[in-house]
Amino acid sequence: MTYVVTDNCIACKFTDCVEVCPVDCFYEGENTLVIYPDECIDCGVCEPECPADAIRPDTEPGMDVWVEFNRKYSELWPVITQKKDPLPDHEKHDGEEGKLEKYFSEKPGAGD
Ligand code: SF4
Ligand code: F3S
Repeated sequence: MTYVVTDNCIACKFTDCVEVCPVDCFYEGENTLVIYPDECIDCGVCEPECPADAIRPDTEPGMDVWVEFNRKYSELWPVITQKKDPLPDHEKHDGEEGKLEKYFSEKPGAGD
């Protein structure tokens, strides 16, 4: 199994998750992060760290699409291991519906 980042990370990107990952398997896009499923060791420590509750185990229903999403963009984006400021409008966007369609950017983030 693996853990994955899901849509409520988009336009928030708190980055608390990256500080606790023992294997540094988070990758940074312009406005969201992803986990590389092949590197994640399923320890689960990142899940409770996310203020947006965006990290889920792939054992939950409907996660297949997010596993493929996380894998695809992990192979394109730079690694991130250090926390940085959340995106400027994170309070406004936390919990908003339809974030994938409205805000997702395929552009890479800055990484570490
Ligand atoms: Fe990293 Fe563990 Fe979270 Fe996987 S479950 S991304 S290994 S902290
Ligand atoms: Fe995103 Fe939550 Fe990490 S909002 S950057 S998955 S702490």
